[in-house]
Amino acid sequence: MKLKRTHMCTEVGVNQVGDEVTLMGWVNKRRDFGQLVFIVLRDKTGIIQSYVNENDGAKELYESVKNLRGEYVVGIKGVVVKRDAQNINKDMKTGEIEIEIKELEVFSEAKVPPFQVADTGVNEELRMKYRYVDLKREKMQNILFTRHKVMTVVREFLTKEGCTEVETPMLTKSTPEGARDYVVPSRVSNGEFYALPQSPQLFKQMLMLSGIDRYFQIVKCFRDEDLRADRQPEFTQIDMEMSFVDEEDVMEVNERLLKKVFKEVLNFEFEDKIQRMTYKDAMETYGVDKPDLRYGMKLVDVTEVVKGSEFVVFENAIKEGGSVRGIKIENGNKHFSRKKIDALVKFVKDYRAKGLAWINITEDGENKTTISKFFDNEKIEEIKKSFDAKNGDLILLCADKNDVVFDALGNLRVEVAKILGLANGEKYKALWITDFPMFEFDEEDNRYYAKHHPFTHPKDDHIEKLENDKENAIAKAYDLVVNGYEVGGGSIRISNEDVQMKMFKALGFTEEEIKEEFGFFVEAFSYGAPPHGGMAWGLDRLIMILTNTESIRDVIAFPKTKDASCLITSAPNKVEKNQLVELGIEITKTEEDK
Ligand code: AMO
Ligand code: AMP
Repeated sequence: MKLKRTHMCTEVGVNQVGDEVTLMGWVNKRRDFGQLVFIVLRDKTGIIQSYVNENDGAKELYESVKNLRGEYVVGIKGVVVKRDAQNINKDMKTGEIEIEIKELEVFSEAKVPPFQVADTGVNEELRMKYRYVDLKREKMQNILFTRHKVMTVVREFLTKEGCTEVETPMLTKSTPEGARDYVVPSRVSNGEFYALPQSPQLFKQMLMLSGIDRYFQIVKCFRDEDLRADRQPEFTQIDMEMSFVDEEDVMEVNERLLKKVFKEVLNFEFEDKIQRMTYKDAMETYGVDKPDLRYGMKLVDVTEVVKGSEFVVFENAIKEGGSVRGIKIENGNKHFSRKKIDALVKFVKDYRAKGLAWINITEDGENKTTISKFFDNEKIEEIKKSFDAKNGDLILLCADKNDVVFDALGNLRVEVAKILGLANGEKYKALWITDFPMFEFDEEDNRYYAKHHPFTHPKDDHIEKLENDKENAIAKAYDLVVNGYEVGGGSIRISNEDVQMKMFKALGFTEEEIKEEFGFFVEAFSYGAPPHGGMAWGLDRLIMILTNTESIRDVIAFPKTKDASCLITSAPNKVEKNQLVELGIEITKTEEDK
C-alpha cells in the first residue's frame, strides 16, 4: 500500500477545502463525461465524489481513473474543492465539496456483482448466497452498527449494576429450554454426544452458587426448532442472573436497561413505569401472552349471549368446556370484502380453528352475517351490543376449545392490524407479563411440562400446588414484551432442594431420571445456594424492533435460511468418510431416502 488513509469519506467537508486528503474505499459509481470522469467513492461512513479532468495534463492518471469499474477497491489522494453553488448536492452529506484526484492506487479489481449494492428488490436467496455483497448496503451496515451500539450499552449498563461477564461452555449437556438440541459427536468417547446450549441456564445458576453474585453474558444459544420470522437456530441472548433478589428486583434492573437502550439508540422514552399484565389477563384480553398494545381490538367473550341456539358449532364448543369469542374491526365493512373475509377464515385455520362466523354491518346498519339461520335479529343485535359495535363495523367470531380460540383470535388480531396498518401511528409499547402458570399440559404426550423451565420458583404460597393443584400453580416468572414480540423472559429460581424435588416429581421424573439428567445440578445446590433469579433477552429480536425490520435474518450478519442452512458455505454438509470412522458414526439415512 503506497497511500495512507487520512480521512473516512464523510469526514471531509468544507472545512478541508484546499487540503490534500487520502481516502480509501469502493467505487460506488463511475460517470464518464469524456474529458471529465467522476468517481463516487464509498466507505462505511458513506459516499464522496471525486473527479479527474483530462485537460489537467496527467494523462496516465486520467486513463487509470477512466478504467475503474464498480466495486474496484481503491485509494484516492486529492485536493478538496468547493462545488459551485449550482452543483451542490443536498442529498449527500459531502455534497458541498468534491475531490480533485491527484493520485490513484488500485488495490483490487472486481467482477460485476451478482446484484447492485443500491438495489432494494433483490431476492433473499441471492442476498444470502452473496451475503458479503448484501452487507455492503447502507441499510445492512447501519443495522450492524446499531447492534454493536446496543451491545456496548448493555455491557456498560450491566457492568455498572455489578454484573460480571463470564463465558460458559458451548460443548455441554442438554439444557432444559424445551427445544430440540443440536448435538456434537465426541471423537474421544465414540457414541457419546455434547449438546450445544439452548441457553446458559444451568451454568449461570451455578455461578450464583459460587458467589459471583451477579452475572451477565452476551451469548450464542442453539435451538433446533421450526424457524419463523423471529427465530433462528443460533441466536444471541443477553443473559443475566442476580443473587439475593426477588421478582421485583430483576424486573426493576431490566426495565431500566430497556429504557436505557431505547434512549441511547433511538432517543425514545418509555413511560415512567412499564405496564404490567398477568398472563391470564393477557390471554383473555388479547389471546396471546405477548400482546401488541399499539392497537385495541380486544377479545370479547360472548359465550353466555349465544348459548342455547341451534348452531351446533357454537353449542358443541360450549358443551366441551370451550367458548365463543370474537374481535370487532372498527369500520371493517369497507375494508373487508367477502373474499377478504374468506382469507381471514383461511388464516385462522392455520391456528387449528375450524372457521369463523361473522357479522358485517353495513354503513346503513344492515347485518350481513353467516349465522342468520340460527340467530334472530334481536340476538344478533345483542351480540353486536357486547362488542359495542357501530354501523360499518365487522365482528369475527370463533368457537372452540379455549386454547384454540385464544390462539386463533390472538393471531388474527395481529394479522388484521397488519393489513390495516393499525400499529403505524405509535412507535413502541412495552409491557411485562407476570404470573405465568408453572405448567403446561400437553395433550399429545398426556403430561405436564414446565411452562418456563424446571428451575422456576412457584409463588411462595403455591409450593403445595406442585403436588395437589398443578393446573393453578403460578410461577415467579415474567416476560418482557415490546410491540408484540417477546424480547425477554426470566424467573426466580428454586434454591431449595425440597422444592426442586417437588418440581421434578410434578413433571413426572423418576428418582433415576432426576439423577441421570440433573444429578450434578441438584448436588451443586447442596453446597450452599443463595436465592437467585434472572432473565434472558433475545438480542436479535430487540435489534429487529430497534431497526424496524421484519425478519430476524436482517439483523444477523451471517444468518441461516428457513431450512437452517448457510448459503455461503453450504453448511451443513457431508464430512469425509474417515471423520465418520473416527467418530464411530455410520450414516444410515441419506437425503435420497427421506
Ligand atoms: P427463553 O427460552 O424464554 O429463556 O429465551 C429468552 C429469549 O430468547 C429469545 N429467543 C430466540 N430468539 C431468536 N431465535 C430463537 N430461536 C429464540 N428462542 C428464544 C426470546 C426469548 O424471550 N434461560 C432462560 C432465561 C432465564 O430464565 O433467565 C431462557 O432461555 O426473545
Ligand atoms: P357451516 O355450518 O360449516 O356452514 O358453518 C356456518 C358458519 O359458521 C360459517 O360461516 C363458518 O365459517 C362458521 N364456523 C365454522 N366453524 C366455526 C367455528 N369454530 N367458530 C366460529 N364459526 C365457525
